[in-house]
Amino acid sequence: MNKVLGISGSFHRNSNTDTLIKTIMEATKAEYELIKLSNVNVGYCIGCKKCVQTSECIRNDDFKWISKKMLEADAIIVGSPVRCNTVTAVMKTFIERWNSFIHVEQHPLKDKLAVGVVIGWTGIKPTVEWLTKVALGGMGGMKVVGAVTAQGYHGSFTCGNGEKCPRSAWNMGKIIEMMMNQDIGIEKMCEGRVEALPDNEPLTNPSYKILDSSYVSVRDQPDAMQKAEEIGKIIRVKLQNNVV
Ligand SMILES: Cc1cc2nc3c(=O)[nH]c(=O)nc-3n(C[C@H](O)[C@H](O)[C@H](O)COP(=O)(O)O)c2cc1C
Repeated sequence: MNKVLGISGSFHRNSNTDTLIKTIMEATKAEYELIKLSNVNVGYCIGCKKCVQTSECIRNDDFKWISKKMLEADAIIVGSPVRCNTVTAVMKTFIERWNSFIHVEQHPLKDKLAVGVVIGWTGIKPTVEWLTKVALGGMGGMKVVGAVTAQGYHGSFTCGNGEKCPRSAWNMGKIIEMMMNQDIGIEKMCEGRVEALPDNEPLTNPSYKILDSSYVSVRDQPDAMQKAEEIGKIIRVKLQNNVV
């Protein structure tokens, strides 16, 4: 039976990230397992370069058994919430460790199918690009089938500091957009949820109204759920037909 491995960089139990990964895995009809990086012990790549001869990391922690499962899997689904415009720190740490795979002529993951899952409001685009192109397809050497994204929760609307908080997602996002000179998705994120009042100035004079701070479950995002199922089915067909 084909095996699919899911790896989640989300800390929350039954999170949106986990739900999308599981939805993809279930649709593959293969044997599957989800590993949450928040529940295992994977330390940093310390750049010792011991992997360059063998493509094996010598560090003695949970990466040893997880990397074995990666090598045994036919497809690997990797998901992370967006944090500070990129994947979570546990996910980045984990991906740095799989850089140990790259040194032998035949990349050991080269025949695996891969999917990226990203949850967030802002920074989804750079995070998906990095995850699919750099981590999964590039350093991971895998065949990327696609990516699924969905929205997450608004920590910065619900922390309790309320409508005068200078570091709300709204104000901070606006400052980041000004600094980066690009749209990172703040308007879309705040649509119907936050209304900036006319005198609002990011940081110096926060003045806005919180209209809706409710949690957005991925189960209420039918497009994302449907895409996850579709990608799972594509993987099922590819694995059944041995088209990898
Ligand atoms: C430290 C930290 C940084 C975050 N940075 C971002 C961000 O840059 N963009 C964003 O959309 N969400 C950001 N978030 C919110 C998470 O993406 C949100 O919590 C997400 O719903 C978590 O997904 P999960 O429920 O699947 O774990 C951040 C959350 C934390 C705790």
